[in-house]
Amino acid sequence: MLVVTFSQSGQLAEITGKISAPLSAAGHRVHLEVLKPRTPFPFPWPFVDFIDAFPECVLREAPPLQPLNLPADSDFDLIILCYQVWYLAPALPMTAFLQSAEGQRLLKGKPVITVVACRNMWLSAQAAMREMIADAGGRLLDHIAFTDRGHPLATFITTPRWVLTGRRNGFWGLPAAGVAPDEIAGARRFGRALTEALDQDLERGSAPLLRGLRAVTVNPRLAISERAGRRAFGVWSRLIRAAGKRGQWRRRPLLLVFLIYLIAMIITVVPLSLLLQWLLSPLLSSRLNVLKAELEQPSGSDDFNLEKYAS
Ligand SMILES: Cc1cc2nc3c(=O)[nH]c(=O)nc-3n(C[C@H](O)[C@H](O)[C@H](O)COP(=O)(O)O)c2cc1C
Repeated sequence: MLVVTFSQSGQLAEITGKISAPLSAAGHRVHLEVLKPRTPFPFPWPFVDFIDAFPECVLREAPPLQPLNLPADSDFDLIILCYQVWYLAPALPMTAFLQSAEGQRLLKGKPVITVVACRNMWLSAQAAMREMIADAGGRLLDHIAFTDRGHPLATFITTPRWVLTGRRNGFWGLPAAGVAPDEIAGARRFGRALTEALDQDLERGSAPLLRGLRAVTVNPRLAISERAGRRAFGVWSRLIRAAGKRGQWRRRPLLLVFLIYLIAMIITVVPLSLLLQWLLSPLLSSRLNVLKAELEQPSGSDDFNLEKYAS
């Protein structure tokens, strides 16, 4: 099995480790490939670099990676792609992997599982992942999502503080940033379920392997806000990119305007849209439930297998 990952704070690395540990313990051969951009991304992020990464994330213009740590002809039965979200898109190192000739060769004809760990908005990024996996000829079997349980408005403060300063702790009554420790520990259940599925060669079929494990839980209200945000990000990213490349001074004035727009949206439109959806929820509830079920495919939020694989 090939497990591909990239993590800056170590959060996604920890989740990746929890998922793959039961597989290695059961005797499956797991190759962990940690992606290394040729020019490393900083962590914590200097503020200008953080904003300047935006257009390329959305437009999927990924800077190159160092060569993979794999023999040229390596071949795997299953591929697990662990990524985080940057600006509603897959983080650039994962995009670079999926766009590379080597990444595409590895994925061709293979069953793939995606794992995301982010603040709380991963739907657009997962749509991009699905597209890139299909382009490479891979078959997406399952998707697992880990998000920050904090209130969406609180995480608009705690997540940027974390990635810009490295400080993850709670402060001023706000919760600590990131995925809760008990959820990270619970990631082991996916490794246990996968071990059993692989023992029965179920990865060769087309059915999801991780149903009943509460692999994803979608908040359909956030999904609506995310859709609006994604549309605006598309326009802004093309505009800023037209003004210059990453690192060039001449696009900085536009980046500043984008930043002001982003902050204005977060403090006005996001709470307003959440309030409106809350007020309208009795009318919208059946439509939101349909949307939720649709967006939770293929692995779903059911929990009928939780007890079996929990400890
Ligand atoms: C540049 C940047 C943009 C981000 N954008 C988003 C986002 O759009 N949605 C989201 O849910 N999380 C976003 N995050 C949070 C990351 O997905 C992730 O949770 C965090 O960077 C920690 O990941 P790590 O495992 O690399 O440490 C962003 C982080 C960075 C650094």
